[in-house]
Amino acid sequence: MTTSSATPGAAPAGADRSFLFVLASSRSDGNTEILARAAAAQLPADVPQQWVDLSGLPLPDFQDGRHESDGWTAGELEEELRQATLRATDVVIASPLYWYTLSAQAKRYLDYWSGWLSVPGSDFTQRMAGGTLWGVTVMADPDEARADGLVTTLNHTAAYLRMDFGGVLLGNGSRPGQVRDDDRAMIRAKDFFQRPAPLTRIDGPAQP
Ligand SMILES: Cc1cc2nc3c(=O)[nH]c(=O)nc-3n(C[C@H](O)[C@H](O)[C@H](O)COP(=O)(O)O)c2cc1C
Repeated sequence: MTTSSATPGAAPAGADRSFLFVLASSRSDGNTEILARAAAAQLPADVPQQWVDLSGLPLPDFQDGRHESDGWTAGELEEELRQATLRATDVVIASPLYWYTLSAQAKRYLDYWSGWLSVPGSDFTQRMAGGTLWGVTVMADPDEARADGLVTTLNHTAAYLRMDFGGVLLGNGSRPGQVRDDDRAMIRAKDFFQRPAPLTRIDGPAQP
């Protein structure tokens, strides 16, 4: 996991913000990371950024122990990821579009959220509430409507956690680097994090 300061930019991300970028492609230096870094470069220099590349983390599949009496013991890596998530005011899931939705890496990370919020005595729900969830995705298909499944997943996830939802920055590309040719995406990246991020809502109980 790496922490860095952003290059200076115009985006007034707000006081006391800190961004966690969760890279969830199955290759490094791919289009999604390129687009996420283009958006991140516009954040003010004093807004801390932490970058986590899930493909480099030996995180096992989530084991659902939520209803077992033995309780939950996090491994060191899981605990580090949980703390990084809790420290951030803004969590950015940077996942390529895989089969019309999030990558398995991104999904696995969110599966861990289920464990974290149901640990007895956990304050995960309270601490995530009021934060902001964002998405960045790149896809081969030029029809952006094909990413609706991914957008809906992140929207409902934010709503469940009582987080604001900043939306999803969409880009087009297949081979690594191709997203740089997507002018519309690169322009949208410039002010993506300045967008208003409304509080999302789910009516009724919504336990995933
Ligand atoms: C497993 C897999 C599934 C994919 N599914 C889709 C898809 O459903 N729709 C789409 O437009 N592109 C799909 N693609 C293409 C990727 O979204 C595209 O290559 C993207 O640029 C990859 O991002 P990355 O460079 O950040 O890894 C898929 C690629 C892979 C490897």
